[in-house]
Amino acid sequence: MYNCSIIKLRQISDRYGYLTPIEGNVDIPFEIKRVYYITKVEKDITRGYHSHKKLHQVLICLNGSVKVQLKNPYYEEVIELNDSSVGLYIGPYIWREMFDFSEGSVLMVLASEPYDESDYIRNYDFYLEEAKKLF
Ligand code: TYD
Repeated sequence: MYNCSIIKLRQISDRYGYLTPIEGNVDIPFEIKRVYYITKVEKDITRGYHSHKKLHQVLICLNGSVKVQLKNPYYEEVIELNDSSVGLYIGPYIWREMFDFSEGSVLMVLASEPYDESDYIRNYDFYLEEAKKLF
């Protein structure tokens, strides 16, 4: 899907376990300026319901599983994240909703910019209007 992709992260495994390094501009396509993670999401809760104007993000489910609904004005798909060596890259002007968080799931997000509420589009009709100009 345009402006979205799956990134297979390199995993270093030995008899002591697995190590997954992530370097900005090396393993993911931007410099990392912010990291946050989402935990303890109850069953039946959906988060997200927004897109960003400029922000690039990579979502990695470190434990458990979560589904991500991705939308643009012409296409939508659901990606399940359940592997800590897989990142979901989401670029600008993609609407996202995260749901079906499994118990104990941990969703980590790497972001290209510090938090800025003015970069969010939280109204879906406005999102469609703006994204139609771009896609
Ligand atoms: P939001 O991005 O809306 O979460 P989600 O898309 O997962 O539903 O953020 C929820 C709240 O947290 C909102 O009040 C903004 C705040 N927040 C920060 O203060 N800093 C951050 O880096 C992020 C991502 C959110």
